[in-house]
Amino acid sequence: MNRNEQILMTEEFVRQNLKGYDSGHDWWHIVRVRKLAMFINDMELLADSFTVDITALLHDTADSKFAGGDNEQNYLRIRDFLDSKGMSDIRDQVIHVIKNVSFSSKHKKDNPDDPLLWVVQDADRLDAIGAIGVARAFNYGGFRNNKIYDPEIVSQKETSKGTINVGSSSTISHFYEKLLLLKYRMNTLTAKKMAAERHEFLELFLKQFYGEWYFGS
Ligand code: ADP
Ligand code: NI
Repeated sequence: MNRNEQILMTEEFVRQNLKGYDSGHDWWHIVRVRKLAMFINDMELLADSFTVDITALLHDTADSKFAGGDNEQNYLRIRDFLDSKGMSDIRDQVIHVIKNVSFSSKHKKDNPDDPLLWVVQDADRLDAIGAIGVARAFNYGGFRNNKIYDPEIVSQKETSKGTINVGSSSTISHFYEKLLLLKYRMNTLTAKKMAAERHEFLELFLKQFYGEWYFGS
């Protein structure tokens, strides 16, 4: 099986796997992350581009929030897939990234020493900020039936502790828990530059949001 056929088979495997995910984690998220990862890697020359492509394609397939079952079982399924399509050579590298890419991954280390992970993680994180990030956050919040915003919870935590720590009670709170932190967590210079612009948009969005919410007060 040549590299092109392996990419086609992986695309098909990923499409089958993503059924049941929310639309912020759909095939188009994969397409965007793939493009971003390729761009970052072309600029930074950190990893082999075929491996970047396969890893970007597979990066969300074991997410236990959606894939269900046990994570270890999901990793085994991906391992079997890669072996069966003649990609045993990159198998361990790819699985290492899948295990570590998530913001909340329990496997994560603060300074991962893996260039392939830097690239794919940056791409995934860029897709969580900017206009697309806002759209995905509210989409995910809706999927979970979370509130858009709860002013009582946010202000209560602000006065008592001086920091905002509001669980996942609203999608606006998710901005403070995660989205506004992502620009500080980029691994590569290319992604840092892109994140700065997308971060500014998050701030602009919040400013407009609060302006409308607190209109007249
Ligand atoms: P990761 O894979 O980095 O752990 P997630 O899968 O948790 O990230 O999140 C992926 C997308 O879903 C992101 O765009 C993120 O902002 C959004 N998301 C995750 N949790 C929430 C939440 N509680 N409220 C709103 N959006 C969320
Ligand atoms: Ni992702």
